[in-house]
Amino acid sequence: LTQTLLGVANATFETRAPRSFGGDDWDVLAFLVNSTADEVQLLVGELEAEREELQLAQGRLVQSEKLAALGRLAAGVAHEMNQPLTVIASLTDLVRLDPSKSVGACEEELAMIAEAARQLSRIVDSIRTFGRSGRSRMGSVDPVVAVRGAAQLLATRIQDHQIPFEWSVEEDLPEVVADVDRLRQVFINLIGNAVDATIAAPYRERRIEVAISASETHVVYSISDNGNGVSVENLPRVFEPFFSTKPVGDGTGLGLSVAHGIIIDHGGTLQYEPRSGWGATFSVCLPIHGLRQ
Ligand SMILES: Nc1ncnc2c1ncn2[C@@H]1O[C@H](COP(=O)(O)OP(=O)(O)O)[C@@H](O)[C@H]1O
Ligand SMILES: [Mg+2]
Repeated sequence: LTQTLLGVANATFETRAPRSFGGDDWDVLAFLVNSTADEVQLLVGELEAEREELQLAQGRLVQSEKLAALGRLAAGVAHEMNQPLTVIASLTDLVRLDPSKSVGACEEELAMIAEAARQLSRIVDSIRTFGRSGRSRMGSVDPVVAVRGAAQLLATRIQDHQIPFEWSVEEDLPEVVADVDRLRQVFINLIGNAVDATIAAPYRERRIEVAISASETHVVYSISDNGNGVSVENLPRVFEPFFSTKPVGDGTGLGLSVAHGIIIDHGGTLQYEPRSGWGATFSVCLPIHGLRQ
């Protein structure tokens, strides 16, 4: 009995008191002590699991606050950069294309400067999508429209690389509350990444699949590809602004963080779905119209 109670006292729960099963006082006592030890052990286990879950949730909160802060910083920087960039791009073109200026030998360099400035402008533009103040036009919409629009915009790339593109769309999907333009941006980023991933993977049967279904409360989109997927080391970073594993010039590292910001604004979630085998699946959940809190 003492050993069992000591086990409870220092939370090791190693021993249980031997019982005679004779029903005498000692046996009853042993039974009570043993079941107390069982119960306390169970509670301690539950508490530990809850504490772990709490720590994870706190970690996620810190992470999303960091993302939001980084997003605001990036949007501020982008805003400041826009003006000087426009000056560089337009003055370069002005000098280059002005017949009265003898550009001659520098023509090629000037063209490169103009192109670099335009590339920077594109990056700056996508960073500015972070700006939440941007006129948001929320309305109740068919959940499929934004995805179809994104797929249409990427159609030439998808065809050029001969990537089979499969749709699996449930019938009679309920409407979602969304800003279609911004939502389309999300799917352009997600499908764009899927295209990049399938192209980069060593040749195997290429495939991208878009599935849309509804749960009781949400419309769920999943965009899957059979590229190389996201490695365990990179997984915690993919939603960070400027995180990219693509060659410089190909990736800005902003696609997923912009998409994440937009989906949060819609009261939804954007996640990487772990799965076995090749490839990646990203899922978007949007609350059904009328159910958004
Ligand atoms: N479908 C995918 N398959 C594999 N890796 C992906 C996929 N989508 C995103 N990633 C990873 O996440 C990173 C960040 O994506 P993103 O924010 O869109 O930036 P970018 O596409 O410019 O690199 C990518 O560089 C890539 O490493
Ligand atoms: Mg991308």
